[in-house]
Amino acid sequence: MANYLITGGAGFIGSHLVHALVARGDQVRVLDNFETGLRKNLDPVRDRIELREVDLADAAAVQQACQGIDYIFHEGALPSVPRSVKEPRPSHEINIGGTFNVLEGARLAKVKRVVYAASSSAYGNQPGFPRVETMSPQPLSPYAVQKLTGEYYMQAYWRVYGLETVCLRYFNIFGARQVPDSPYSGVMARFTLMMMRGDRPAIFGDGEQGRDFTHVDNVVRANLLAIEAPREKAAGQVFNIACGQRHTLNETYALLATFIGFQHPPIYGPEREGDVRDSLADITAASEVLGYVPEVGFEEGLRRTVAWYREEFAGQEKGTQ
Ligand code: UD1
Repeated sequence: MANYLITGGAGFIGSHLVHALVARGDQVRVLDNFETGLRKNLDPVRDRIELREVDLADAAAVQQACQGIDYIFHEGALPSVPRSVKEPRPSHEINIGGTFNVLEGARLAKVKRVVYAASSSAYGNQPGFPRVETMSPQPLSPYAVQKLTGEYYMQAYWRVYGLETVCLRYFNIFGARQVPDSPYSGVMARFTLMMMRGDRPAIFGDGEQGRDFTHVDNVVRANLLAIEAPREKAAGQVFNIACGQRHTLNETYALLATFIGFQHPPIYGPEREGDVRDSLADITAASEVLGYVPEVGFEEGLRRTVAWYREEFAGQEKGTQ
């Protein structure tokens, strides 16, 4: 049993980690400012965790929250590429400044290891697939720059202070509890809810852009493995966390529509600013060093996701013909 701090623990990915740790009997402290996280994500475990309403920009509160902690999962962030394009300052402050505060807190509190939610957006639009961690990053959007800066900070804290850090580059994570109705929602959550409500989703561009969509259960597994991986091989390193398969948006749309019973074609609109065209991961390093295997495949992930939204948004389903 160990003491864990999860930043962004009320959010989509963070809350899955909280549930997993509580289930195995670990002590969990959650930080969240509830800007994008939701209290209800923690309801089932509320009496078994310590919850602190803290903004990652509050250095003193973050530092205090690191006291007595063995391991940190740093999931707190202002996600979304388009949000960072529209309003770069808040995402800069949280994604870079907040990450710095977490590292400083971890260093001063002598935390054993920090696992960081990095992003596949670091690769940008350079040629060469699948993406391997040794490629030079080419971030396109403010969000990509911010998440990549966080990686550099993680690596510097390992090199300079000996704080063990592991960066996991997430590739388009989806699953239960992903917010579906914000303008900045991930595509899978957004399409699922819209189709359930009978609304036609919009595809930005021709729909032939590809993503290595990865179910959230795989990410939870990867994080737990990143804590256990040997320091000599994992500390200061970056790992792709994905399925190693590319699916186009058109293909994803069609499959979701089949599962939901939605029979309308998408509306095609202009390409999104700062959008990456294609994304596909090489997951060899995560497999060799962490022992990571994507246990939930794309289709099974979609099935589970649709089932969850059906239950969560019961009564809102209509127009599925
Ligand atoms: C990016 C990162 C991902 C990161 C995420 C955080 C890449 C390859 N991926 O995801 O690692 O975790 O940001 O937010 O950079 N789309 C539509 N219609 C919609 C919404 C989206 O067509 O209504 C399209 C987008 O234009 C894009 C694709 O769907 O081509 C995926 O978009 P989204 O779910 O927002 O994620 P990314 O920006 O790819």
